[in-house]
This record gives sequence, C-alpha cells and structure tokens, in this order.
Amino acid sequence: MMRTHTCGELRSEQLGEKVKLAGWVRFSRDHGGVLFLDLADAYGTTQVVFDPEALKDRTTIEGLESLFKTFGRESVISVHGTVRNRVPGTEDSRNPTGEVEVLIEGAELLNSSRPLPFEVAEQKGSLLPGEDLRLRYRYLDLRRTSMSNNLRFRHRVISAARCCLDDAGFVEVETPMLTRSTPEGARDFIVPSRTSPGSFYALPQSPQLYKQMLMVGGLDKYYQIARCFRDEDSRADRQPEFTQLDIEMSFVDDRDIQAIIEKVLARVWKDVFGKDLSIPFPRITYHDAMHKYGTDAPDIRYGLELNDVTDIVQRSNYSIFQRILKKGGKVVGMNVRAEYTTTPSSDGSLVGRSEVDRLIEWAKTQGMGGLTWMRMVDGELTSNIVKYFPSDVTADLIKEFDAKEGDLLLFLAGSEIAALKAGGDLRRKLARDLNLLDGKGHQFVWLVECPLFQRDSVTGQLEMFHHPFVRPVDGCLIEGEDLTNAGGLSYDLVLDGSEIGSGSMRCHDPEVQRQLFRCLGMTNEEMEAEFGFLLEALSYGAPPHGGIALGIDRLVSLMLGCETIREVIAFPKNKKFQGLMDRSPAPVEDSKLNELQLLCLAEDESEE
Ligand code: AMO
Repeated sequence: MMRTHTCGELRSEQLGEKVKLAGWVRFSRDHGGVLFLDLADAYGTTQVVFDPEALKDRTTIEGLESLFKTFGRESVISVHGTVRNRVPGTEDSRNPTGEVEVLIEGAELLNSSRPLPFEVAEQKGSLLPGEDLRLRYRYLDLRRTSMSNNLRFRHRVISAARCCLDDAGFVEVETPMLTRSTPEGARDFIVPSRTSPGSFYALPQSPQLYKQMLMVGGLDKYYQIARCFRDEDSRADRQPEFTQLDIEMSFVDDRDIQAIIEKVLARVWKDVFGKDLSIPFPRITYHDAMHKYGTDAPDIRYGLELNDVTDIVQRSNYSIFQRILKKGGKVVGMNVRAEYTTTPSSDGSLVGRSEVDRLIEWAKTQGMGGLTWMRMVDGELTSNIVKYFPSDVTADLIKEFDAKEGDLLLFLAGSEIAALKAGGDLRRKLARDLNLLDGKGHQFVWLVECPLFQRDSVTGQLEMFHHPFVRPVDGCLIEGEDLTNAGGLSYDLVLDGSEIGSGSMRCHDPEVQRQLFRCLGMTNEEMEAEFGFLLEALSYGAPPHGGIALGIDRLVSLMLGCETIREVIAFPKNKKFQGLMDRSPAPVEDSKLNELQLLCLAEDESEE
C-alpha cells in the first residue's frame, strides 16, 4: 500500500496510529537537527517530523539523515510513522490537519525534482510568477492550491449541470471534431485531409448544425460538454479552444429553453455554493439594454442607468450639444447619486472637480469630444455651463434624473451608437472606481428580443446578429420588410455584465432557412454547396426546435472572480494563443506536408 491516508486526512482522532503518507516536499525547516517537512498532495498538507531523539535505532537514524539530504523542494517521498499532537502553541488552525503531525519512522524517495522555476507553495502575500512562466510549467502551476481548487470547482460545476440534465431526460451525445465549417462569426481552424488532397476539415466553432441534425434525428433533448474552436482575436474571456454546455430541444419554445438553463444553474449554485439562486432571471430587451446600459451585456447590479435627454437639452443654447444634435446626434446622461460616491476629495464634494476633470480626459480617450457635468447644489443644477440651459430645461433635467442634493449629472453627446457605447463604458468605469460592486454577489439577466440582423460597423454589410439559423420572430421574414428591424427568436444569458450564453429557436422550415441565406447574399448554388445537407435534412420533417450554449470557461471564471478564463482552464493558450508548455503551434516536417500535398510559402512570399 503506497499510503494509508492522504495528506489532508489526519486529525486528532488518529492520534497514536501508525500511518503511511506520500506526497511532495513543499517546505522543509531544520530546527537544530529536528527536521520539519510539509508533505503535500491533492488533498492537503501534513507536517511530518524527523526527530532523531525520538528514534532509538542508530542505523535507522543515520540512514534517514543521509536520505533526507536527498530530499529537495518538490521531491516525491513516502514516509511512515506515528500520528502525534503538535507541540502546544505550534498548532496551525488554518490547516485542517494542523493539530497533528507524523513522527517519521521510515521514509523513501520516490522521485526527485529539479530546482524549481518558481515557488509552488502559496504563502500569504507571495507574488505569482509571470503568466507565461506559469503556462510554460503548467504542471507545476497546477500543484498550487488555488489552481487545483479552480479545476476542482470547475469539475463540480460541470458535474452538477450534468446531473440536472440527466434527471431531466437529456442525452449526452458527442459530435464530430473534424467537420465542415459552421459560421459562428470567427475564422475556422482548418485541418487538411490526406485522403482527399486539396480538401479540408474545419474544427467546429460549435456543434450547432450537428445538434440540429440530432433534433431532425428525433433525439428530442440533447446536451454536450462540447469543445469549440475559433480563430479570433485574443481577450481575457476568449480562448481559441473553449468549452460550451451545449443544449438543443425539440417541440419547445424559447421560454422552455430558458427555464431549463435556470434549473441547471440553480442546481449548480446549490451544489457548489450551497445557496438558492433566485429564478426566473430578470429579462431585458435588447433595445432597453442598449438604451439604459449602453451594452447588450448589461450589469444590472448597480444603477447609473443612462437616460436619453436629447429632447430636453435641444432647448438649451449649449453650442457643443447643438452642433452634435444638428448632425442627428443624441445626448445621453446619467445620475451619479451622492450616495454612490465614496472618495471625499479636496473640494468637499464626493466626486470632486479633479475627479470630474479626470473623467472628462477619460471620455476624450474613448473617442468622445468630452463630457458635460452638472451638480445639484442647494436645490439647483450648477456647473460652468449651466448658464446655457434655461431654467425650464434644468428643471426638466432635475425631474428626468430625479436629482437630489449632491448628485452629479454626467452627459455624453455624439452619434447615438457612440454616445450609448461611451455611456456604457462610463458606467463600468464608475462602478469600478466607486467600488459599487463591493458585496454585490452575482446577477443573471436574459437579453431578449434581439434583432435578427445587424450591419457591420466598418463595411456596412448586413450580417446576422447571432448566426444564420435563428428563426425570425414571425416565423418567416415578411416580404419588403426593413431587415434591420426584423426580430429574431434569440436570447443571450448575461452574468455580471458578461455574455455567458447564447441561444435561439431555429428555422425548421427549409424555405425560411433559404430566405435567411438569401438575405446574406447567398445564391442558390452557394446555399447548396455550403448548407445543402442542412436544407436537405430540414426537408425531411424537422421538428420545431431550439437551444442554447453556455460558455463554461466564462461561467466558472465569473463564479470564482478570476481575472481571465485562463485561470479555470488546465492547459490554456497564452495571450498570443501559443501553447507554451508543448510549444504549439509548431512547424511540421516537410515529409508530413508532402503527404498532405501542402506547400508552405516562405515568409517573404506570404507577405507579398
Ligand atoms: P455563441 O457563439 O454565442 O453561440 O457561443 C456561446 C457562448 O460560448 C462562449 N464563447 C467563448 N468562450 C471562450 N472563448 C471564446 N472564444 C468564446 N466564444 C464564445 C460565450 C458565448 O456566450 N451555437 C451557438 C449557440 C446556440 O445558438 O445554441 C453558439 O455557439 O460564453
């Protein structure tokens, strides 16, 4: 037997027992010939002690003394001995095994470790090594308690979700990794085929089309913990490969799908936090989210909501607003209530002039001309520009924002999109700066009534708001309808201001699906070539169906309060999407390229 107990198991109940432990030497201290080792494994840390005076046999003592000289930091050892109380006053109440220690009677070196590139033991106040170094030696990084806890937490989240879906009669089905490209808005990772030279698979951006095929196949309730691959720009909440909790259901409507997700998340909350999650989640329309929060992923845990005050301020003589309004622009504002503000500043007000000046500078860095402010002092709006606002206008502003003593009104002017976006960014900045999120917990919200299409901000081209398989609100598109006004039966799930999930009802009628493809400019030939198999399958009695996918990495990292999703993924790519441990991506030998009938362009050729 390699061990009788784990390093997290021993308590005073085992006092006097002979035990055997195995693990890593995380720390060692020599107190005048008495050696203390912190022996760690996946379950905890136990103090083991080599005390020559407590051992009688001289040969054993000498043998152990020379053996311990070979024990470096992170060597793997096994020890056996007797459990005893720690010396009174040296107990460690933060460690569950901290009352006891094991007096070593014998030991064995199971494997040694090279000198470490960074400290594995986590101590209070110790700094983390740089992320690239951690990723280069991820197997050592994973030994750190916080990383190991993150992976265990992730496992519990997934396992709770699985249990809930199993109970609800869902079937887990794996779908192919070598696929045809599915348009989810990113570039594909392409895999060349050796047996069909010149042809390529795409790694799935999501199992979208397969799960729809499963519905046509009569499966009724599908789920999968699915790996997805997308070649898109790096962000703290994006990885080129990530995991979705992917779901599809037949003979349901959008509310049924949202209800099952609420049930899954309530189960997750109960299992991992021991708390009841309040369901159903609030719902906000896309229009309201954009106009109140300046984003389609609103954080509704705090106020600072945006108000469009264009109609009011156009009665002012303020030339900056007038100039923007004449060009069809808008003015949005928010009320930073006196009680939101926490940092007393030099001029006595809570967000004082210097903070406001800094916000004005910040607004300029966001592409806005600046930011206009007014403050309620002695029942009146005051600021350097208030003279341009007649009293009936300021009275309307006070009413609109329900402004009270000490409140600070902030205004942003520009094109509607720019003003709302900047307003959303300002909200997030103020929430951070004013610590409005402290103690707030988590908040889910459904984003509903999303548009079907949107225009690319650069090319102006019509593109899908989600993906091209979303069913139009009215079941089909109405002839001659302005497509930018068309609604889709789609919904996003937002947690604390981050989109963690997205789903929709699908076009089960092949004619409606063709309509959508046509709107995207596809000819019949292109439809057949790209999506012939989907259109064909839909024409064999596809049931009405819909689904959703939650980003597991995002969900888990938000639940844990991590800075990036890399903290909850065992082997993530770094910010440049490189695998630093296995050094991927890497060149391949010419012989392998030849087999695939591929030629790599030399660097200077590819740049041309
Ligand atoms: P969507 O593309 O919105 O929908 O993806 C669903 C969720 O997956 C997560 N996600 C990511 N997480 C980490 N890194 C990425 N690069 C990344 N991209 C997306 C997000 C997102 O909300 N097939 C549809 C779902 C459906 O309609 O059923 C889909 O994939 O949390």
